Amino acid sequence: MTHPARPQWLRRPDNVAPGIAYGADYNPEQWPREVWRDDVRLMREAGVNIVSLGIFSWARLQPAEHTWRFDWLDEVMGLLYDNGIAVDLATATASPPPWLTAKHPEILPVNERGETLWPGGRQHWRPTSPVFREHALALVEKMAGRYADHPALSAWHVSNELGCHNVYDYSDDAARAFRTWLQARYATVEALNHAWGTAFWSQEYSDWAQILPPRLATTHPNPTQQLDFKRFSSDALREHLRAERDILHRLTPDVPVTHNFMIMGGTKGMDYAAWAADIDFVSNDHYLEPGPQAYDELSFSANLTGNIAGGRPWFLMEHSTSAVNWQQINIAKKPGELARDSLTHVAHGADAVCFFQWRQSAAGAEKYHSAMVPHAGPDSDVFRSVTALGATLRELAPVAGATREQAPAAIVFHWDSWWAVEADSHPTDRLRYRQEALDWYTAFLNLGIRADVVPLGTALDGYSLVVAPMLHMVGEPVAKELQGYVEAGGHLVTTYFSGIVDEHDHVWLGGHPGALRDLLGVRVEEFAPLLDTETVTVDESLPATLWTERVQVTGPDVAVLSRYTTGEHAGHPAVTRRTVGEGSAAYVSTRLGPQGLTTVLDGLAAAAGVTSELPPGSRGGVELTVRRRGQERFGFLVNRTDQPLPVTDLPGEPLVGARGRNGELSLPPRGVGVVRLA
Ligand code: GLA
Ligand code: GLA
Repeated sequence: MTHPARPQWLRRPDNVAPGIAYGADYNPEQWPREVWRDDVRLMREAGVNIVSLGIFSWARLQPAEHTWRFDWLDEVMGLLYDNGIAVDLATATASPPPWLTAKHPEILPVNERGETLWPGGRQHWRPTSPVFREHALALVEKMAGRYADHPALSAWHVSNELGCHNVYDYSDDAARAFRTWLQARYATVEALNHAWGTAFWSQEYSDWAQILPPRLATTHPNPTQQLDFKRFSSDALREHLRAERDILHRLTPDVPVTHNFMIMGGTKGMDYAAWAADIDFVSNDHYLEPGPQAYDELSFSANLTGNIAGGRPWFLMEHSTSAVNWQQINIAKKPGELARDSLTHVAHGADAVCFFQWRQSAAGAEKYHSAMVPHAGPDSDVFRSVTALGATLRELAPVAGATREQAPAAIVFHWDSWWAVEADSHPTDRLRYRQEALDWYTAFLNLGIRADVVPLGTALDGYSLVVAPMLHMVGEPVAKELQGYVEAGGHLVTTYFSGIVDEHDHVWLGGHPGALRDLLGVRVEEFAPLLDTETVTVDESLPATLWTERVQVTGPDVAVLSRYTTGEHAGHPAVTRRTVGEGSAAYVSTRLGPQGLTTVLDGLAAAAGVTSELPPGSRGGVELTVRRRGQERFGFLVNRTDQPLPVTDLPGEPLVGARGRNGELSLPPRGVGVVRLA
C-alpha cells in the first residue's frame, strides 16, 4: 500500500451514510438522458450509494484530438451527487478512441506471431507505447483537473483491469522496454547469459540489442527468457498504473487511488501481490467459474484479495448479479446466490460491493451479461434480489472498517511459481498451480478450518500450519525462511514439484526437491508423471493422479504417513512428515484432489494442533470467517451447500439471520448469517 499519510479508503461525500458501499459500473453514455433520471431513482430504491463512472468514456470525452466534452459528465456527476450517490471516477483511459488509433496505429499491440491486434474490441494499446502513454496521461490530467473538488468524487479508478486483454505485447516498443528492464535486473549481458542459461542451444548474447521478447520461435523459447518476459509484462502494466497514479496524487492528494485487480481463476499475468503497493486501497473483480468448486474458488479469491490488501478493507469493484456473457455457456445464478456471493466477499474483508453493471446493455458485446437492472426491468427477481441485498448491507454497517482476523492456518500463493510451473517443456503439461492451491483450500473448507490464502512473503510466524502447494521456485532466502518457520515450531506442508528450481529457473542439483530436500528429509531421483488414463491408489483408498515419484526417506525423524498401494511405486512413501523440534515439515508427492487432501489434511492439521472453530455439526457445510475491530468480532457463516443447515452452539447476537426456537441459526440453501461473536 502507498504511504500511510495517503487516504486509505473512500472519501465519503457529506450526503452519503457511512457503512458498506454498494453499487455498480455505471455507463450512462449507453443511454439517452431520460433514462438517467430513472437510473438514479432506481439506484436509491436499491440502496445504491456508489457507482464507477467513465470507465469506457474516452471517445465521448475527447471526440477528437483537440476537442473535449465534459458537459454530459458534469451533468451525471451532479445528478449522482444530488441523489446521495458517491462516484469512483475512472481516468477513462481503458479503451482508446478511433481517432487515436487511426492517427497512431503504432500504439496497437502485437502478438507473438507479429500480428497487430486491431481496434474493434477494447484495451487495444501497448503497455509500453510512449505515444499511448502521452495521450492517456493528458486525459488523466484533464479529468483530475476538472473533478478534483467535485463533492461526489470518492476515489479514482485508474484505467480498468490492466492486462485483461493486453498483458503480452511483443512489439518493438515492448522489445525496447524489455531490454531496459533486463538491464536494471542483470546489469551486464554476462549476468543475463548466466541467468538465462544461454550456453544451451547457442543462445549466448554479446549485446543488449540482440535480445527480443519470446516471439514465435521454431521450438520452446528459452524458459528464463519466457519467465522474465512474464515478470516484465506485469511490471510494464504496473508502470502504467503508477504513471496515472502519480498525476492523481499530485493533483488530488486527498482522493484515494485504486485499481480493479482480477484475482480470479484464469487470470494469471499480473502479480497483484506486488501491485498492491502502488495503490491506496485494493479493488478486485470476481466472476464465478462454474463447476463443483465454484463457491470455493470465489472464497479463495476473496481470501487472497483480503490478504493482499494486508487484512484491511478492500473494494469488490465488479461481480455479476447472474450470468456473464464471455464463458462458453453462461449460467444464471440460483436463488440466494447473488447475496451469498456478495456477502462472501464482505466476509473476507470487502467494504464495498459492486456489480458489473448497473443497467444491462441493449447493444454491444456485453448485452447478454447480467446487471442490477436486467433487460426485463425492475419488475424482476434480479432487481428484487438486488434491493434485498442493499437492505442486508445496511444491516452490516457496523462491520465496515473491521479487518480480517488472522486464521490459524495459511496457504502460500506465489506468482513466480505459478508462471514457472505452467511453462512448456516440463515433465508434464498437466500441472495446474492454482488448482492445486484451490484443492487444498477446499480441503480446509471441508474440515471447517479457517485458512488464509497469503502471498509468499507474508510473515508466517502467526500461523500454526502453513501449506505451500507446488512452491516450485524457491531461492535461497525463501528456503531459509521456511526452514526458520519450521525450526521455530511451525508446521509446514508442501507438495510435488516444490523446491525444484531457483529464482532463475535453474534446477537445484543433488536430487529433488532440491531447496527443500534437507528440511523435508526426503530425496527423489526421478519424476514419474502419470498419463491421463492412469490412477494409482494411496493407502488403498485414495485415488492419486497426474504425478508420482519414488520418494526415499533420507532425513532423521521422518515418518511415512501414507504409501502408494498400487502402481510402479507400490509400497513406497507417498506422504511423509519430518519432526523438527516442536515443528514439522510434511511432503505430499502426488495429486490427491480435494477429497483425498481432506483426508490427508485432517491428520496433518490434528498433528499441528489446528482444529475447527465451528460446532461439529456445521463443519464442511459452512464456511466461517471472522472480521474484527478491537474486541468486537463478527463471524460470517456461509452455507456452501444447496441444503438448509442449522448452526447450533454458536453464541452471539445475529446481525444477519435469525435464531430459531432452540437458539440455532438456520441458514437456507446458499444462505448467509452474520453473528456478533460473544
Ligand atoms: C533431438 C535433438 C537434441 C535434443 C533431443 C531431445 O534429438 O537433436 O538436441 O533436443 O531431440 O529429445
Ligand atoms: C470485466 C470488465 C467489465 C466487463 C466485465 C464483464 O470485469 O472490467 O468492463 O467487461 O468484465 O464480466
